[in-house]
Amino acid sequence: MRVFSGIQPTGAIHIGNYLGAIRQWIELQQNYECIFCIVDLHALTVPYDPQTLKDLILEKAIVYLAAGVDPEKSIIFIQSEVKEHTELTWLLNTVTPAGDLTRMTQYKEKSRKFKKNVNAGLLNYPILMAADILLYQTDIVPVGEDQKQHVELTRTIARKFNQRFGKTFKIPEAKLAKSGAKIMSLTDPTKKMSKTDVPENYIGLFDTPEQIKEKVMKAVTDTGKIIKYNPQKKPGISNLLTIYSLFSGRTIKELEKKFKGKGYSDFKK
Ligand code: AMP
Ligand code: TRP
Repeated sequence: MRVFSGIQPTGAIHIGNYLGAIRQWIELQQNYECIFCIVDLHALTVPYDPQTLKDLILEKAIVYLAAGVDPEKSIIFIQSEVKEHTELTWLLNTVTPAGDLTRMTQYKEKSRKFKKNVNAGLLNYPILMAADILLYQTDIVPVGEDQKQHVELTRTIARKFNQRFGKTFKIPEAKLAKSGAKIMSLTDPTKKMSKTDVPENYIGLFDTPEQIKEKVMKAVTDTGKIIKYNPQKKPGISNLLTIYSLFSGRTIKELEKKFKGKGYSDFKK
């Protein structure tokens, strides 16, 4: 079975990327044929500086290796260096319903955020992602929850293509982490942790221990003071519990017990 996934080089890589995506990669590479891409062409759909983009690509390669992607087991490469990604994108363009693209959550969010630069690339972004995945006859796509919709669209595109031209592409499946598929922002725990937001909202993989401590201490919590997991009623503390649980290897139940009778600031410390 083959695995394909990628991360955009823009912005600082954060623990959401790590817990939602990269941690799954490290596990999967033990048993599957894995291909991990630095998807630089996707990053061109929002404003960027061509010079710093080069450094950011290298930085992501460093992160992949440091996090445990083993180049003996997995393939690591830069999207723009394999021209077939853009070639297949064009072919897939011609079978993708335009209405499906305007319905994508990420498109709606990004076109709201980058009002002055709603380019066609932003709209066609999921087709390039479908090309990435389908080009390698991928079985499994380990991603965070926000990308599930794009993988669903990839499946639709593959089916349409196969119907029209005969069986050509494998129908891939998204794989989400059981816990950590959607790490929330530290400053607004009702929104996902995001690279393109203010630095206070995320814990970057390159943040210093001091910066991390400061961000955790300032993280928005909820009314009341009980340490209890309840994402609907207590999104702030639930997010911190998830993060703590995933990094410590202890269950949320254990953590709730450990902090019974204690307050938010004890927990944060
Ligand atoms: P991106 O930063 O958009 O290139 O995302 C790279 C990978 O990280 C994708 O698989 C995303 O779904 C995943 N990801 C991004 N943000 C989060 C988050 N807040 N929680 C969990 N996974 C995330
Ligand atoms: N769109 C993904 C994101 O924003 C990145 C990505 C591009 C990707 N191509 C991919 C992820 C193929 C998985 C498979 O996170």
